[in-house]
Amino acid sequence: MNKNIYLDAAASALKPESVIAAEGAFLRESYANTGRGVCGRAAAADKMLADARFAVADFISAEYPNQVVFTSGTTDGMNRIVNIVRESCDIKTVAVSDLDHHSARMPWEHLARTGKIKLVKIPLTKNYDIDYENMPTADVVVITAMSNVLGAAQNVREIVAAARAKKRNVITIVDAAQYVAHKPINVKTWNCDFMCFSGHKIGADTGVGVMYIANSDSYNPDKFGGGMVQTISGDNWTIDASPNKFEAGTLPLTQIAGLPVAIQEWQSWSGAGDIISYMYDALSKMSHIRLLTEPDAKLISFVVDNMHVLDFGALIGAHDICVRVGNMCASWIHSAMGIDGSIRISVGPWNTMDDAKVVVDVIRGIVK
Ligand SMILES: Cc1ncc(COP(=O)(O)O)c(C=O)c1O
Repeated sequence: MNKNIYLDAAASALKPESVIAAEGAFLRESYANTGRGVCGRAAAADKMLADARFAVADFISAEYPNQVVFTSGTTDGMNRIVNIVRESCDIKTVAVSDLDHHSARMPWEHLARTGKIKLVKIPLTKNYDIDYENMPTADVVVITAMSNVLGAAQNVREIVAAARAKKRNVITIVDAAQYVAHKPINVKTWNCDFMCFSGHKIGADTGVGVMYIANSDSYNPDKFGGGMVQTISGDNWTIDASPNKFEAGTLPLTQIAGLPVAIQEWQSWSGAGDIISYMYDALSKMSHIRLLTEPDAKLISFVVDNMHVLDFGALIGAHDICVRVGNMCASWIHSAMGIDGSIRISVGPWNTMDDAKVVVDVIRGIVK
């Protein structure tokens, strides 16, 4: 049987042995709940959680570990932020862009449909980058740091600055689900209010994500339950400070145990560069292929003349090669480009140049 070639890192990364081992060790040897126990095992689990939070804070250059809140992923974080900011602020206008993933924009689209907020569009340049020189004025600005279709890093710092120039106390929310896999995140330099990513895109397990909150004291919690109460006496209770404030209930501890290991492994990867460049160059010479991405993008998206993307997916799948086909949960950018869907190649640390050569030969055979 052929070796399966997995070219869908942008959907979810394969898991390194070290992450599987870290989770196995936690489950076998030191599993306990956090924030509740006084025994040695519980203390060890508390330390694991504190260390993981510290590692994430360092990874995203947050000033304080308590700005790091664990979620179940980017979708969870982006939806929660909508409730968190609406609990504490009067939001009337929200700026979104066509680069957004459904997870980043749909929660706001839902409110707009029911008349609770008004959506305004951040324009894109002719290359489909965020046109921050023409930023609209809004109470909230949603920023996709890297589109999962176009793979181009956006200038988040300038976008945030442009949004603040329009409205000083604007709330800026960054979706870094794709960016995290390719570029260092620096929330301090970005100067954003919120940022989300999912662990599974960088080799951690599913079910764990990060929601960064710059000024946690300015917001009320969106969830209530165990672990977030500071004092309680009868009907009177007070809420703990962040991160407990935003982490009601039991956390995905096993996945959190694997996250710092995944971060460390992922940081040792030299990046998508050479393999993507090789395939981009080869695909650009195939006359039936229309490339949608730029040569320096972190992934390759394309369409094939007179071939439905699902047919292409099935044909290449028959060679045991996994690519992503469809609208990638990013229908707005596809509409902006005048297409229904695309084919996406994305790579991770497990991919080799040999994989790239096989894939190019197979694609040549399919599109000839
Ligand atoms: C840009 C972007 N935002 C958000 C998401 C949602 O991430 P998750 O499914 O891990 O919640 C994805 C996933 O593909 C993405 O690419």
